[in-house]
Amino acid sequence: MPSNRIEVNYTPNEDFHLLTNYLFSTHFIFTIMRQQILLFVVIILTFGCKDHETSDMSLPKYVEETHSYAQPNIAVIKHLELNLDVDFETETIEGIANYEISAENASEIVLDSKYLDIVKVTSDGVDTEFELGPFDQQLGQALRIKISEATKHITIHYKTTAQTEALQWLDPQQTADKTHPFLFTQGQAILTRTWIPIQDSPQIRITYNATVKVPSNLLAVMSAENPKNKSADGSYYFKMKQPISPYLIALAVGNLEYQAVSERTGVYAEKSMIEKAHAEFNDMEKMVIAAENLYGTYDWEQFDVIVLPPSFPFGGMENPRLTFATPTVIAGDKSLTSLIAHELAHSWSGNLVTNATWNDFWLNEGFTVYFETRIMEALYGKDRANMIALIGRQDLEDEIEGFKGEPEMTKLKLDLTNKNPDDGMNSIAYDKGYLFLRTLEEAAGRDKFDSFLKTYFKTNAFSTITTEGFIDYLNVHLLEPNAVEFNVDAWVYQPGIPKNQAIIVSDRFKNVENRLQDFISKKFVEVAKTKDWTTQEWVHFIRNFPETITIADLKRFDVAFDFTNATNSHIAMVWYEQAINHDYHEGNVDQNIEDFLIRVGRRWYVSTLFKAYKRNGKVDEALAIYEKSRDNYHSVTVNTIDALLDYKK
Ligand code: BES
Ligand code: ZN
Repeated sequence: MPSNRIEVNYTPNEDFHLLTNYLFSTHFIFTIMRQQILLFVVIILTFGCKDHETSDMSLPKYVEETHSYAQPNIAVIKHLELNLDVDFETETIEGIANYEISAENASEIVLDSKYLDIVKVTSDGVDTEFELGPFDQQLGQALRIKISEATKHITIHYKTTAQTEALQWLDPQQTADKTHPFLFTQGQAILTRTWIPIQDSPQIRITYNATVKVPSNLLAVMSAENPKNKSADGSYYFKMKQPISPYLIALAVGNLEYQAVSERTGVYAEKSMIEKAHAEFNDMEKMVIAAENLYGTYDWEQFDVIVLPPSFPFGGMENPRLTFATPTVIAGDKSLTSLIAHELAHSWSGNLVTNATWNDFWLNEGFTVYFETRIMEALYGKDRANMIALIGRQDLEDEIEGFKGEPEMTKLKLDLTNKNPDDGMNSIAYDKGYLFLRTLEEAAGRDKFDSFLKTYFKTNAFSTITTEGFIDYLNVHLLEPNAVEFNVDAWVYQPGIPKNQAIIVSDRFKNVENRLQDFISKKFVEVAKTKDWTTQEWVHFIRNFPETITIADLKRFDVAFDFTNATNSHIAMVWYEQAINHDYHEGNVDQNIEDFLIRVGRRWYVSTLFKAYKRNGKVDEALAIYEKSRDNYHSVTVNTIDALLDYKK
């Protein structure tokens, strides 16, 4: 049931939007009479536009962006038609990208391109001049294409190269079934430009269609309307009618099967994983219903998850209609499925209301962690939600400690000029963002906060928002009408955590802490006292070992709980971290750590373990493993670990 809004190729005019929101808010109408409003509009339009070069007084649509060469205020892409040939032999994609554009008196349109071979460009079917600018390690190159006033379409013939960072080509050996090759893309934050020439800023919104040709024994799926079965000849046609930001264009190709969970939810996975994935994620429909009950209709029609091979560099990626997920969340007991709630929540925070620039990344992730926690609470209760929140709270503490020398990195609003947007992808955006919103919820009251958020998503659907835009919206729609005093600026623009932070408590975690102390002081483990512990309690137990824990203590725990052979990836990861921290080498722990690091490419896990080696003066050990694991990692994990270990090829 698509709403009218979706059909419209909606372009945000953020400043105007905010202005109208403000002017027509009840609050404002009560304080100023109609005529005065008109006068005010005239004054704002006359004097408020001083900085803008346009003489017709139209406000700029797109804000300044340091991670894209595009000049969307001059010429912008609106719709993309892709025609792609996926070649596993040469590990390249050969493509034709046709764009519908919108421009005013422009003589060129500028796109982003990185590690692409641009073969030819046409403008409305006729060859046109193009130029690739100087290469920047982060941004790639500006692709400047000559257009005329009348130009409606441009077409680019191109090929990806061996350097293309978005793509990971996998041998059969690197997949679950080990029978067929696999390919997946990762666009966020600025990698889409490495497989499609594009205006690669989150402020851009386009619809797309794609024709994709793959080997006939493989299935292709995208962040679009998807096939459920293989075609006879390996040709697939995709339609994405809801406008999305370029970082959300995604493709996966493999020997995949589909199993529905409900009419609008389901899973794609390789044969050997499909049953497990289906069982693990069979609450998907319930999650969508819970999310809709909280913050309004799910606007993307379908919500599927694809389980990728273990080298996928993230836990999950919220590609619209088709979340990409790591197989490491399949624990067998649904204990790690908050990740699915998280990616689902992005269907509102991120995909519907999108951060305008990567400096506003906390708007995507902080809101999503808040929303994720609310979905988990609705499905499984407050206990579980608070444990998840407290694990994040501890991550935040560790992150702030790690940024001791760079406190400006602990602000919500960042300045990532000349930095890779990846540098902002840390616990500050996620967990400080969450804490801010939870503190706001407590200050305003849950009912008021929920109706505020619901309206926020509806009003800003299919558009982008800056941190400043959000703060204005918050003042006008939540704080002022309810006379709530709140130190918003301190939360957003100051380092660290303000004093009025919400305090999260969990009796279950208190019990875990007491048991831990008990077992250590008595040198005796009462296994029965841990009988119904959940994954979150085990993670909390292991992460909170005292500095002074001995090998004998660790061994006692390992004998009692077999942490070294844990099949739950989160429990295994935190245990391995402690083994590295405390020089614990009993049993097969060293072998298991190495196998884990070779098989799993999830950056959060991999970097946590390599950081532990580094912190403990064991860079040589880390490098010995990394030599064996590096080839299995996607470029985003490789880039992080190369820098961490100062790896030279
Ligand atoms: N959108 C992110 C992943 C991402 C962020 C990729 C920035 C590239 C740049 C995704 O929604 C996410 O947050 N994934 C988390 C899982 C989550 C449960 C915290 C992850 O991968 O760990
Ligand atoms: Zn996220």
